[in-house]
Parts: sequence; structure tokens; C-alpha cells
Amino acid sequence: MTTNVQHLSKQQCLELTKVTSAILAKGKGIIAADDALDDIGRKLKNVGLENTVENRRKYRELLITADKEMALYVSGIILTPETLYQKTSNGVRFVDVLNQKGIIPGVNVDGGLVDLPFTEDVATQGLDNLHVRCAEYKKEGARFAKWRVAYKITETTPSMLSIQENAKILARYASICQANGLVPIVEPDVSIEGNHDLERCQKVYEVVLSHVYKALVDYKVYLEGTLLKTAFVTPGLSVLKSKTMAQIGAATISTLQRTVPAAVPGIVFLSGGLSETDATLCLNSVTKEAATRLTIDKRGSKCPWTLTFCYGRALQFTAWKVWDGKDKNVKEAQEEVIKRSKTNSLASLGKY
Ligand code: 13P
Repeated sequence: MTTNVQHLSKQQCLELTKVTSAILAKGKGIIAADDALDDIGRKLKNVGLENTVENRRKYRELLITADKEMALYVSGIILTPETLYQKTSNGVRFVDVLNQKGIIPGVNVDGGLVDLPFTEDVATQGLDNLHVRCAEYKKEGARFAKWRVAYKITETTPSMLSIQENAKILARYASICQANGLVPIVEPDVSIEGNHDLERCQKVYEVVLSHVYKALVDYKVYLEGTLLKTAFVTPGLSVLKSKTMAQIGAATISTLQRTVPAAVPGIVFLSGGLSETDATLCLNSVTKEAATRLTIDKRGSKCPWTLTFCYGRALQFTAWKVWDGKDKNVKEAQEEVIKRSKTNSLASLGKY
């Protein structure tokens, strides 16, 4: 085995870090608008609409055409491949609308979850032809990508096999993205569902993240040109209130400090089924905790990453309700998304 490997050129590295810096601009975060087909189908059904290409386009147009005030709080948006190629009802490419506002388009490139045989876990598919798709999405205007792997906590899961396998899958994905000029968002998502305690969640995340970063280094991923997307370290949803927000903030930061290299520029959190308010409170607590540790360690930063939101549901719950599938409600629904983005922008600064 040779260790004399070919890395990205300086120019390629610079291109990636320019994108990570723009995404991590102070007080800004990401909107995840890449619901899987059946997820958006459920949401459309709730507002009386069928799960058609046109109805999905309509909802996503609502997000993409919100007032430019959104760009004060939002630096990027994750689209599905379908949305990346779509246009507004006036015929303007979504990508152009976003670029004009200064919001960076990204794209979900994973192929969804499949059972991992002989375990109770899942793995994420979609590596076949990923390099071809990444090259096409880059040409179409995407500047970053997202790939989610998922774990659930039960007495017997996640298995070591799924932890090892998903870490390799994430690393392979990240290397393919970077080779094609896209910043990979690396998303190991430990589900909040369940009744596990905070300590168990922390242990699982420590093992998961340490495997992910070992794999990323093995696959020669340029860490400065990546972002980590993770859930908050919390007790399971059914016992969420057994710990305070301050305890959740402290556990989350400790877990990240133990496992995420300082070269990673930013960590963006998913909301994972938390309510809009809880997601904001968790982020606020995490950023406040990070600031405390900075003050304690006077020699330098122990918390080297920018921390912000990359929420799907927690930015859009109310907007879906307000929209209710009706054109007349679009403006009001857009205002709701901006309002939630602003609140989370404050939380990303520990000022909520
Ligand atoms: P939620 O914030 O709804 O969990 O979605 C974020 C996401 O993109 C998960 O992959």
C-alpha cells in the first residue's frame, strides 16, 4: 500500500473552502428542502394535494421565491435533483433565483435507505454513477451536496457492522463529491426516536463519529472542504424532557469535541423531529455552551467549528399549515419560513 496519494489541487481546495465559508457566514444557516418523495407526499396529502411533480414544484417555489430578507438568515438550501432542474411559474430557473438572492443551491445525492442484511439496521444506497451525477449537478449550478446515513438506537442497534459500513459509504460519497467540485455535507443521523437516555445517545454518537472521521481520512477527503450534519445529542423523544437544554448543549459539545477534527469548518444540525421551538432552544444552548468553553480555554479555541442550523421540518412545520396548499396563502407561508429562519439565526449566535 502506498501512502503517496494524489490530493486535490490547491485550486480545487480553494473552490471548496470558498463555498464552506459562504455557507457558514455569521448568523446564517441552511434550509433542507429535500424531503424524500414519500415524505413530501404525506405533507401534500395533509393539505389536500396529490404528490405530483407540479405540486412538489409549487411548494418548493414557495420556499425559493420568499422575500430576499431570507438571505439575511439563510446561506444555502438543499434541493432534490428534481427541484434543481425546475423553474418558477414565470419560467426562471430556481438556481438563478437563488443565486440572485445570494443563497447557495445544494442537492441531495443519496439514493435512500435499504436494509443492511443480517442486521436490524439500514445503509444508504446511491454510490453507483454518483460521479456522473455529481458532475451534472455541478454543471447545473449546485455547489454542495448532502448524503444521509441513518441509525436508530435500540437495545441491539446500531450494530458495529452498520457503523463501519455507513462510515465507509459516507467517506466514498464525500471523496466523489470533492473530486467533482462539490462540498459534501456528511450526515450521520442518529434518530431521536426512542426512550434511550442522554448518556446512551452520547455513546452512540461518539462511536459513530469516530468511525466516520477515520473513514474520511482513509478515503483522503479534504476535511476543510466538508461540513458535518448531525442531530443534537439528546435523550430519546419520549423522554426528551428528562434533561434540560443546558445538559443537551453540554453533551452535544462534549461529543463533538471528542470526535470531530478541528479541520472541519462547520457543524450544521438537523431538527430530527424536534418541535420548532425545541430545535431553536437546542441550537441556542449548543452555541452558548460552545462559547463558554471558548472562554474557559484561554490558550485558544477548543470549539473550532461554526455551529448552525440545517433544518427541514423545524423551519417549515408552520409554513405548511399556513400554506394549506392554496395560492392565496403563499406570501404568509413565506413570511413564516423567514420568521423561523430569523429565530434560528439568533440561536446560531447564542442570542435567542
Ligand atoms: P429535519 O430538520 O426535518 O430533521 O431534516 C433535516 C434533514 O435534511 C435530514 O436529512
